[in-house]
Amino acid sequence: MSAPPVDIGRVDRVLARHPAGVQGELINVLHDLQAELRYLPRQALERAASHLGVPEAHLFGVATFYEGFHLEPRGEHICTVCMGTACHVRGAPRLVEQAERDLGIRAGQTTPDMRLTLETVNCVGACALGPLVIFDGKYHGNMTPDRLGRLIGKLAKKGSE
Ligand code: FES
Repeated sequence: MSAPPVDIGRVDRVLARHPAGVQGELINVLHDLQAELRYLPRQALERAASHLGVPEAHLFGVATFYEGFHLEPRGEHICTVCMGTACHVRGAPRLVEQAERDLGIRAGQTTPDMRLTLETVNCVGACALGPLVIFDGKYHGNMTPDRLGRLIGKLAKKGSE
């Protein structure tokens, strides 16, 4: 999948909210850029490095160290299937298979129209709800392949309205 073009104007508007040359702003800048763009494109990181006066390699190092930062484009919606032990034994692999089939992508990928990213995670500490799917930040416990299929179907319907 090729990355969508980066709107440098949006990047610069985010950077303008942070004082130039202040290295202590680094994490805040990365958070704000990701909130704006849904991921951290290379061009945005390069501009941020020059704005903050830090070496690009340092900025890339920080962005890749923290799991919460994403260097690949992500969809408008995020569907996360928990594959931790408790969810796994309660059928999480079938949920991933269902979502992969419905969306035509593999876990870790984004649909070509950039509408949805399918991810997996290893336990978010809500094991009693398993198998668990987190859809745009909302927890859906005791998930079944049918319910997940309907959730994904709703999204496809919205997109065609
Ligand atoms: S294993 Fe899924 S929330 Fe813990």
